[in-house]
Amino acid sequence: MNDLDTLVQTARADFAAARQGAALEDAKARFLGKSGRITELLKGLGMLSPEQKKARGAEINQAKAAIEAALQARRVQLAEADLDAQLQAEALDVTLPGRGRGVGGLHPVSRTIERIEAIFASMGFDVAEGPEIETDWMSFTALNNPENHPARSMQDTFYVDVKDAGGRWLCLRPHTSPMQVRYAQAHAARHAQDVAAGKPMAEIRVIAPGRVYRVDSDATHSPMFHQVEGLWLGANVSFKDLKVVFADFVRQYFETDDFDVRFRPSFFPFTEPSAEIDIRFGSGPLAGRWLEVAGSGQVHPNVVRNYGLDPETNIGFAFGIGADRFAMLRYGVDDLRLMFDGDLRFLSQFR
Ligand code: DAH
Repeated sequence: MNDLDTLVQTARADFAAARQGAALEDAKARFLGKSGRITELLKGLGMLSPEQKKARGAEINQAKAAIEAALQARRVQLAEADLDAQLQAEALDVTLPGRGRGVGGLHPVSRTIERIEAIFASMGFDVAEGPEIETDWMSFTALNNPENHPARSMQDTFYVDVKDAGGRWLCLRPHTSPMQVRYAQAHAARHAQDVAAGKPMAEIRVIAPGRVYRVDSDATHSPMFHQVEGLWLGANVSFKDLKVVFADFVRQYFETDDFDVRFRPSFFPFTEPSAEIDIRFGSGPLAGRWLEVAGSGQVHPNVVRNYGLDPETNIGFAFGIGADRFAMLRYGVDDLRLMFDGDLRFLSQFR
């Protein structure tokens, strides 16, 4: 092996040893650079005879070409390795499962209210909504609950730092009953001509679901909860009608005939007589226990007057359903607070 072959082999080994572009360029300089080995060999030609120069020159050029080829091959190799490394690092694994988006759902109380609305709508009831920040008059006085009357403490609520036109603090409504007054007043206004002529007015049949507030908090009471108010007012709507409507509602809501309904005498300022409605299932996990589910009664004549109507010709009943109670009974939940904690482990069971 002559010196040139050795040189080419050394260059190949050096190039192979270079792991990166920069190292390879250093190696190149050692062989092909201005003071590299090949350049030095070419300079040395000057001392040879013309014949020797020709032969030796051709050999050196061959070696130079071989080194350049080795350099180029190594450059390509390193570039490919770089690209491979980059592709590895940025690898996109198309076999990974997607991240997915969480599936939302209606809150169990919202589902319950929708269910209650659908059942009463099927019985010809309108659905109305009203304000949660309410006047003192609508919340109490219009409902035959006079100022300073002890019955007001049954519905102690939160007050808002704003007064109404009459100088009374606004409050968070303690029940949905103000909606009886708001809806009946609007209804009376729509039928003003009939009302003025003393003619029978079209019946009022409405439910009003929504949030209500009380100064109360334990396993069965929450400062915010839900009610569904009901009002059926006509020429002669009686307790008997209430019993039929309510029993039919319970039958549809719980999808069973196996229950009793009991009206237990009670007191509310806005009804006379007043009753708590209890139900008792004949079978299932709640069988045999009386469960209180609503307040009710014949609307008090003073309240009918505050609707703007004549209590002699407008007679009917009202009720207030505990919507959270209905949700808990349907879904078998025993602590009201679970409904409002916002814990997804609980809520996702209702999706
Ligand atoms: N407003 C009552 C309460 O919050 C419930 C109620 C009782 C509503 C009797 C009524 C009713 O409409 O007639 O406790």
